[in-house]
Amino acid sequence: MKNTMLGVLFFSLLILSAPSSSSSSSSSASEGVCIIGSGIGGSSVAHFLRKYSESELIRIRIFERQVVVGGRMATVSISGETFEAGASILHPKNYHALNFAKSFNLTIQTPSLDSDSSFGIWDGHNFLFKTLDLDFKFPFFKKILSLANSFLMFFRYGFSLFRMTNFVETTVDNFLKYYESFESRPVFETVDEMLTWAGLYNLTTRTLEEELLDSGLSPLLIQELVTVITRVNYGQSVSISGLAGAVSLAGAGDGLWSIEGGNWQIAAGLINSSHVELHLHEEIESISYLGDHYELNSTNGNSYPCEVTVIAAPLDEQNISFTPSISIPNRSLHHTHATFVRGFLNPAYFGVSTGSEIPTLVGTIESHDLPFSSISVLKQHSEKDAAYKIFSRKPMADALLDRIFSIRKETLRINWGAYPHYNAPERFAPFVLDGQHLYYVNAFENAASTMETSAVAAENIARLILSRSSGKTKSSSSNLKSSTSNTYDRHSDL
Ligand SMILES: *[C@@H]1O[C@H](CO)[C@@H](O)[C@H](O)[C@H]1NC(C)=O
Ligand SMILES: *[C@@H]1O[C@H](CO)[C@@H](O)[C@H](O)[C@H]1NC(C)=O
Ligand SMILES: *[C@@H]1O[C@H](CO)[C@@H](O)[C@H](O)[C@H]1NC(C)=O
Ligand SMILES: *[C@@H]1O[C@H](CO)[C@@H](O)[C@H](O)[C@H]1NC(C)=O
Ligand SMILES: *[C@@H]1O[C@H](CO)[C@@H](O)[C@H](O)[C@H]1NC(C)=O
Ligand SMILES: *[C@@H]1O[C@H](CO)[C@@H](O)[C@H](O)[C@H]1NC(C)=O
Repeated sequence: MKNTMLGVLFFSLLILSAPSSSSSSSSSASEGVCIIGSGIGGSSVAHFLRKYSESELIRIRIFERQVVVGGRMATVSISGETFEAGASILHPKNYHALNFAKSFNLTIQTPSLDSDSSFGIWDGHNFLFKTLDLDFKFPFFKKILSLANSFLMFFRYGFSLFRMTNFVETTVDNFLKYYESFESRPVFETVDEMLTWAGLYNLTTRTLEEELLDSGLSPLLIQELVTVITRVNYGQSVSISGLAGAVSLAGAGDGLWSIEGGNWQIAAGLINSSHVELHLHEEIESISYLGDHYELNSTNGNSYPCEVTVIAAPLDEQNISFTPSISIPNRSLHHTHATFVRGFLNPAYFGVSTGSEIPTLVGTIESHDLPFSSISVLKQHSEKDAAYKIFSRKPMADALLDRIFSIRKETLRINWGAYPHYNAPERFAPFVLDGQHLYYVNAFENAASTMETSAVAAENIARLILSRSSGKTKSSSSNLKSSTSNTYDRHSDL
């Protein structure tokens, strides 16, 4: 692997003098909330705790094992240009993320309309489907072209396309219940309860393929377009759950957006505005419950007492030892290899004569001999010079890249433990891991893994912490009291 450029994102604010091993100096055993992980989940828990808590005094600490905040939101730099390396797109109805972006004055960008984008479905030998991509410079012709492409799509998949859209819209509408005010929206103790309340639970018990066949979609649409989308967004086939599948399909619709300069800035803004003590490059290796508080030990040799502990990173690939031990359902992360290439694709590999005949997004179907899931143009620099992003289930070897690309000037590889390996029916870890005050945001990832679902889960965890701590009378030093006013404002529709 080449020298990863994730390090460009040094986010160096608020780093407290870390070696303040507070175990001896602290007078009270209760030392606020400790959060493990600085991605969208951990930073959102901090944000919502501040927002909903009546007390200014809660001490919030975030521990991040990397040297930058953002978790799976990270950028790479290829020839000096910045691209999203991990979580890259947001949906127009991702209201928490939209609110965050607005309140931190971040610039929202949408894929530019004049970029010549075309799309094809590759089966390893041929393009099964390809949109037209004639290089019209006038908006009027663009319009006609997109209409023509809709007809092409319709010609191949028929009314199934509308059934697919309905399926996605119904699911998105159910999800919007999570933005309702406190009066109508309870605090959820478990993921199962949270999903059932919104009418989403059943979708986690069956595969996407089963759901879509029942909704009347044609097998051709499922094998091709739907498969392309689940492979791009979750690196997996249509055997993922119906819910993860619906979320994945929603992530292929209109109006998608991202933050100019990198989505990680959302986490940075949340942390910066929430009066958090940020401990970068400090990995927690043990969490021990000592009767009235947790003791968190880090690999740096520090020990921190915490009244409440929140795990906001997938436990699947963490090395934390718990005392007493905890038990959660087996889960493994699906690894997606993101390979970034500056160069030019080889037309011969795709059986065409010129590079311009290769679509700007090449999606693929499930097939054993396909070495990648998708290839997309991130930026066209000149006729034979572009930046590409490739997703694959295995690392892309140099020899393979040399066949796919005729020119390759720069290559960068990232192996992400990207999202859960979905397996319907899903089983969910508890939000409260030990029946006490140890919380797990990423239990929700088995439902669907996105930036917004993490923020939604984090918001519920913040409410859960406040409601469960206010009943705790023993510790008079507890600053965790739930706000009594229900001032949670429903986000306005755009
Ligand atoms: C965002 O911009 C507005 C207007 O330009 C300004 O009033 C506000 O203070 C800014 N907020 C932050 C967090 O920078
Ligand atoms: C979910 O499935 C159960 C059992 O099949 C059924 O009783 C229930 O009505 C379904 N719920 C929804 C919201 O469809
Ligand atoms: C942190 O927040 C302050 C305002 O509270 C703002 O001026 C500053 O630019 C922010 N820094 C970052 C890195 O976001
Ligand atoms: C954590 O650190 C403290 C202080 O160094 C030590 O007494 C304790 O045994 C450690 N806990 C674990 C689980 O290693
Ligand atoms: C977990 O810890 C063990 C022993 O300390 C080590 O061998 C292993 O590589 C670690 N795994 C990860 C994912 O860090
Ligand atoms: C969980 O995974 C481990 C290791 O892969 C295996 O030994 C164990 O039997 C699994 N447990 C369940 C309940 O599937």
